[in-house]
Amino acid sequence: MHSCRQVVAGDAARHVLVAGNATNRVLAAGNATVLGSVYTGRSFHPRVASPSSCMQVSPPTAAAPRHCKMAIEQTPMGYFREATGIPGPSGFGSASTAEQVTDGIDASLLTVIITGGSSGIGAEAARVMALRGAHIIIGARNTEAASEVKQSILQSTPSARIDIIQIELSSLKSVRAFAEKFLAMDLPLNILINNAGVMYCPFQLSEDGIEMQFATNHVGHFLLTKLLLDKMKSTAERTGIESRIVNLSSEAHMTTYRTGIRFDKLNDKDFYNDKLAYGQSKLANILHANELARRLKEEGVLNVTANSLHPGLIRTNLARHSTAFVGALQTATCVLWKTIPQGAATSCYVALHPNIKGVSGKYFADCNESKTTSNGRDELLGRRLWDFSENLVKSA
Ligand SMILES: NC(=O)c1ccc[n+]([C@@H]2O[C@H](COP(=O)([O-])OP(=O)(O)OC[C@H]3O[C@@H](n4cnc5c(N)ncnc54)[C@H](OP(=O)(O)O)[C@@H]3O)[C@@H](O)[C@H]2O)c1
Repeated sequence: MHSCRQVVAGDAARHVLVAGNATNRVLAAGNATVLGSVYTGRSFHPRVASPSSCMQVSPPTAAAPRHCKMAIEQTPMGYFREATGIPGPSGFGSASTAEQVTDGIDASLLTVIITGGSSGIGAEAARVMALRGAHIIIGARNTEAASEVKQSILQSTPSARIDIIQIELSSLKSVRAFAEKFLAMDLPLNILINNAGVMYCPFQLSEDGIEMQFATNHVGHFLLTKLLLDKMKSTAERTGIESRIVNLSSEAHMTTYRTGIRFDKLNDKDFYNDKLAYGQSKLANILHANELARRLKEEGVLNVTANSLHPGLIRTNLARHSTAFVGALQTATCVLWKTIPQGAATSCYVALHPNIKGVSGKYFADCNESKTTSNGRDELLGRRLWDFSENLVKSA
């Protein structure tokens, strides 16, 4: 097997490229109990990326800003698996698709909320979970786009149960309205996928006066989770089926401000860096899930879990504010990029798979448990962020 390594330094990403031949693997079918139903099998297919299509180019930018902290903790084996699609201990890897990781799972007893289900990874996760029988509530700011996603899912799965509720995650008022509408539907809630996100947008304050990436990616989801948590606890209690909260984070959490979260200068335009602010918000997604998991355990609530994940690198509308930068990054790190069906796999795996039963406060990538930076494991930072977020959502 041929392999090459290249270190790419940039504001937004650091990746060691390991180009190798994609490896074919077929795993034997297995049986396991899942969320009150039966899981009957799984399969693995190699990823499409080929080393010959990898062009090595210069890094998009050279030095990271002075106030940036980068801690690279992905192991060479981790990158090797990511590049080749070789499955990890779960039996799945970067090449696995959402359909493959949910093969044999009956989700017909489950109600799932997925924010940002109108595009990209969220739309694909909604499609696949609907295919497995779950009742899907898409939270979308653009309800027209969400309706198109719904129509397209219904074409392939006529029995799909899909509702759409408007939500603007950067507005605390809108998040509260979403939660009220959902609770008024008197449905159970088994799974909450905090998926919606914006990346690298120019400096802007939300209507609540919070920096836009932090407001959308973290604060909106923090409030949404808080408002729906009792429903998730009561659903788990009543049905005996574990409830799961899944936060979409990113490996970009590595690239944040030196202090991890810049509590004191969060909304200060003079200190804003679009890449670091995105990393900060994605670090917040991890810390939120970890601290929530810790609090649930402390409360003795063992049937509600909270985890975070990196979906992989996938070309979606997320790149809209930085097409040139993301294009260069994609060229430089081409063997690591996934298709959208592969990009939705880790969300579906963490939300539905029996392997994850009882697992809480963990971070996943490529459908396997993975390691965050030291910031992502910093309990004190997580507690501080929790109190800070509580104050933000109280004051608005
Ligand atoms: N793609 C990647 O390589 C990658 C890598 C790491 C992590 N992620 C994470 O994966 C998640 C999904 O991203 P994606 O790649 O699927 O991007 P995407 O195609 O742009 O989807 C993002 C979704 O979030 C919605 N959204 C954005 N801002 C919102 C707001 N203020 N209120 C309500 N909804 C809002 C978008 O709605 P509109 O269509 O109306 O904008 C869209 O439906 C994000 O959290 C992202 O950070 C992605």
